[in-house]
Parts: sequence; C-alpha cells; structure tokens
Amino acid sequence: MHYRDCFCGALRPSDIGRTMTLSGWVAGRRDHGGLIFIDLRDRDGITQVVFRPEVHAEAAAAAHSLRSEDVITVSGEIVARLAGTENSKLPTGEIELVAATLTILNRSEVPPFPMDERIANEDLRLTHRFLDLRRPAMAANLRLRHRVTKSIRDVLDTEGFWEIETPILSKSTPEGARDFLVPSRLTPGSFYALPQAPQQYKQLLMVGGVDKYFQIARCFRDEDLRADRQPEFTQVDIEASFIRPDALYALIEKMFQRIFRESRGVEITVPFQRMPYSEAMNRYGSDKPDTRYGIEIRDVGDVFKESQFKVFRAALDAGGVVKAINAKRFASITTGQIEELTEVAKSAGAKGLAFIKVENGEWKSPIVKFFSDAEKTALTQRLGIEEGDLILFGADTWETACTALGRVRLRVADLQKLPIDPLQLNFLWVVDFPMLAYNAEEKKWNAVHHPFTRPKAEDRELLKDASKLRTIRAEAYDIVLNGVEIGGGSIRIHEGDLQSEVFSVLGINEVEQEELFGHLLRAFRHGAPPHGGIALGLDRLVALIAGEESIREVIAFPKNNRGVELLTASPATVEPKQLRELYIASTVKPKE
Ligand code: AMO
Ligand code: AMP
Repeated sequence: MHYRDCFCGALRPSDIGRTMTLSGWVAGRRDHGGLIFIDLRDRDGITQVVFRPEVHAEAAAAAHSLRSEDVITVSGEIVARLAGTENSKLPTGEIELVAATLTILNRSEVPPFPMDERIANEDLRLTHRFLDLRRPAMAANLRLRHRVTKSIRDVLDTEGFWEIETPILSKSTPEGARDFLVPSRLTPGSFYALPQAPQQYKQLLMVGGVDKYFQIARCFRDEDLRADRQPEFTQVDIEASFIRPDALYALIEKMFQRIFRESRGVEITVPFQRMPYSEAMNRYGSDKPDTRYGIEIRDVGDVFKESQFKVFRAALDAGGVVKAINAKRFASITTGQIEELTEVAKSAGAKGLAFIKVENGEWKSPIVKFFSDAEKTALTQRLGIEEGDLILFGADTWETACTALGRVRLRVADLQKLPIDPLQLNFLWVVDFPMLAYNAEEKKWNAVHHPFTRPKAEDRELLKDASKLRTIRAEAYDIVLNGVEIGGGSIRIHEGDLQSEVFSVLGINEVEQEELFGHLLRAFRHGAPPHGGIALGLDRLVALIAGEESIREVIAFPKNNRGVELLTASPATVEPKQLRELYIASTVKPKE
C-alpha cells in the first residue's frame, strides 16, 4: 500500500498535472449534485479532494459513505480549482485533487465535539485529547513547541552546553512547593520525591566538572493549579561554571533572539531592560511587571504627612507608606467596578481602596473632605491629575501597598481594555531580589529564590546581623515577558561554610543539614567551582509565543485544574495488593 507522496498542506499550483497520493482524515464532506468534496486533513494542512462520478464512478460511489474523521487514502490528478472557487485562506487553496481511487483505512465514530472551532468545554476536549490534537490550532501549537525546543537545543549546543539527564526518582528539593512522593518497595517506609527542579543535581554536575549543562527537564510540584501552572511542567534548565550574571543574561538573550527568529520570524532587540526588584515593586507593584502600559504607582506619603485622614496618617505613623495610581480617563468607572477593585486590593492584604473620581471639575470621593487645598495641589502635580481621571490609593506597609496597587493596576488595565499591540514583546530582567523573606506564621526566615542562592558580595556580612536579614540582596534574577515570569535563576553558593551559614539562618540545624544536604556540603568541600544558572518555564514561554492564555494549550496531555489527566483518568485507585507490596495502607475508604 502506497500511503502518500506528501502532506496535505504541501500542494501548490506548480503541482498541477501531477498524480499524487494523500492520506489523512475527512475534515468535512459537501455534496454538490453528484460531485462530492472532501477536505482531507493531516497535521500539516488541508487539501480539497473532489470525487467526479462521471470520470471515476467507483471512487465517487465509495465517497458517499465518508464521515468526519474517517481515515482515507486518495490518489488522483492535481488540477486547478475553477475560477472563483479558490480559497485564499488555505495555502493549497488554488488546487484540488481529483480522486481516481479511494481507500478507506478506518472509520470514526461521530466526534463528541465539532472539530473545526474553539470548543468551550475544556474537560470534553481533554477527555478526547486524541481528537482535539488533530485540530489545526493544536497541531500548530505542538509544532511551535517542537521548533522552540529545537532552537534552544541548537543555541545551547553551539555555546558548548551538554544535555544531561538527572534522576526523576530523587530526593526532596526545597523549591517551595509540596513534593510528589513515590514509595520505595525495596526500602520499606522510604520515599523518593519527584524533582521540583533538578537544582541540586545541576549544581553537583558543576562540582563534577561538567562546566556547561542543560536539560529540557520535567519538574513536579504539588501546588494549587492555575492557567499558568501545572503539577508537572517543563523547564529549560541551565547551569554554568565560572559565570557571572552578565554572561548569563547575554546567553539567554541570544537564545531568545534565535527562538523568536526561528519560530516567529521576528528580530527582538537585545540587551533586555534590567530593573531592580525594589524599582519593580515601587513602580508596578509586582516582581513581574507588565511594562507594556503605564498606570505607574507613585509615592504620595510626603503629600499626606500632616493628613487629617486617619487611614493615611495611621499608615505613615506606623512606618508604612501611602501610594497612588492615576487611572487616566477612568472616572467613568461604575460602583460595581470600584467594589471589584477593592476586593482585588484586599486579596493582597490591603484594608481598603480609597479613590477619587475627577468629574465635571469636581473631586468626588468619600475622603476628599479630609484633604487640605495644599494637599490637593501637591497631589494634582504629583499624579498629573486631569478631568476624567480616577485616583486609587493604598496606605499600608510598603510591601502590601505596592502589591495591592500592583494587582489593582492589572485589573484596571483589563477593565479599561487598554489597546496593547499583540506583537509587542517587553522582555525585562528583574534583578537584585531580596535573599530572605520572613514568614510571620512560621516565625522563620525563608529563601525568596531557594537556599542555594548567593548573597551579593557587599551584603554578605549582613547575614550575621539578625536585624539586617531583610535587607540582604541576592544574586538572583527573573526574566519577565509581558508581565509573565518565564524564568528565574541565581549565582549559587559554592562554599561549604557559607552554605552552612545560610542553612542556619533558614532554621536548618547542623544535624538536619547533614541529613538533608550532606551530599551538597561534602561536594562544596571538594573543590566546587563558582557557578550559576537559570530555569525557563518552557510551557509558559511557548504559550506566550502562541498567544494562548493557558499553558494547557501547549501541552499534549495536560492535567485539568483539579490535577486530573482526563484522557486516561489519572490519578486512579490501585489494587490493594500493589499497596501491600509498597507497605502502604490507605486511610481512605474505597468507594462502594
Ligand atoms: P523557579 O521555581 O523560579 O526556579 O522555576 C523556573 C520557572 O519555571 C516556571 N514554573 C512553572 N511553569 C508551569 N507550572 C508550574 N507549576 C511552574 N512552576 C514554575 C516559571 C518559573 O520562572 N531551580 C530554580 C531555577 C534556578 O535557580 O536555576 C527553579 O526551579 O516560568
Ligand atoms: P474608612 O475610613 O475605613 O471608611 O475608609 C474610607 C475609604 O478609605 C474607603 O474607600 C476605604 O476603602 C479606604 N481605605 C481604608 N483603608 C485603606 C487603606 N489601608 N489603604 C487605602 N484605602 C483605604
């Protein structure tokens, strides 16, 4: 059986007159008084096939029985479509194949959803993912993902990086999420953890002299799921020895240039902007600012230092801040929308969201009665207030006020439907992250990035001063594209004593250090080179390039937001015998 000469998207007017064989799926059938038209689809495209009973009676008769998603092979002559019937939307739209023979290879049941449009019910799509993947939009996403991965491998190979696999059955790594555990049959009562990232292994590879490593690495994190989070996802994981941040930024920028050139045909400008974390928070209220639009946050604490409004005064007296954003021309906001924004602010820990609407030359606000003329003048100047503006305030600790207004800013941009050029690509390095953050609930310090991240040389001594821990900056960086964190990394600690000191600050005592990280501390005492790296979220990156809201659109078999892979229905219960072999007893009663 000869199945095909080319894919279904390949034929052009230059092929007219040739006899060709194609195989694929029936994407649609139209009967036109004796003539039957089939759209024949494969992953590459669509070719129109026409059955003419007057020339090829047998094939045309068989074509009557064709239904959507039947799998067929057709052979016949490529001809020009009749003038006026060309389809400019299809690359093959000027030609059609006149079927001389038809072989039906397999029949399909009626698909549970239409194959030619966006289907609202995602669970239905995921349950029948084998059909969903046939849709051109999904095929395009899979192809794009392949292209992006290929570009990444090519760049890194050229730059001397080796692709090395690290264990999936491994030991718990403290990346901040919950681990997925795998019971060990051979060591009763013990568990492997699936890696949240290959962090420690890649550092150990540096100690092993590998020098330049990368891996398209699957990572597993048992966390609450969202549009941009999956319990298993893919990182482009990179580590290099004897490297400083500047060289790493240049490498990643070169990689993005190549990715966008090869996947989208666009030239992106390098180097990318760099912004310290403190500036990102002050101006955008986020460590992953979307810089495609303004609505920047301004500090107005000095304007209100004598304020009669007790909310502002109380925040300032407590050592906090008063910050504001000016949503230009948005005084038309509805009461319902103000309430919505207030809820957004509260979700970030704010106590409220004071506002002023400037309408008909008047400041409309429940709090404006507390403002003096001098305060109004100063505020007008600071925020460039004009007729039609909406001013929103946050009075709180620095972090809460910034974060709350940062979230409000994003929602305002949504509500205002700000015109954003879909082709705009705002890359940004966020640098100089704080090294440690205090967790008031647990009464302990946590690493902002991870415990292996190096403090900046000039801040290293502050580790010894408990009152200064908050101010230590790390040699850590994130890369942000259009407000999405697509990667993060750091220069690492490579000295055993510094690593041990940092573990101690994080509340890990010496016994625990030996138990959890003895391998790393030992390695660091045997000539570890200075090293650093980064990991890019491949799913997020591909979704952004594809223009998809959800990373599920660029993953072949994703889990839904309840963590279920619907096609195979996993997770699933297992036989009691399997549990016994693993020395596991379940406390969950099996469903009747
Ligand atoms: P980090 O935890 O910042 O760093 O992860 C790196 C990038 O991975 C992506 N990402 C995710 N994508 C989809 N679903 C998830 N659940 C998910 N979690 C993270 C993000 C993120 O920027 N070992 C360090 C890297 C290093 O220091 O080199 C790490 O894992 O885009
Ligand atoms: P109140 O005095 O509590 O009635 O608040 C008056 C206005 O200030 C309301 O619009 C509140 O939403 C707002 N507000 C209260 N607390 C804060 C705060 N910490 N930051 C900003 N606005 C606030």
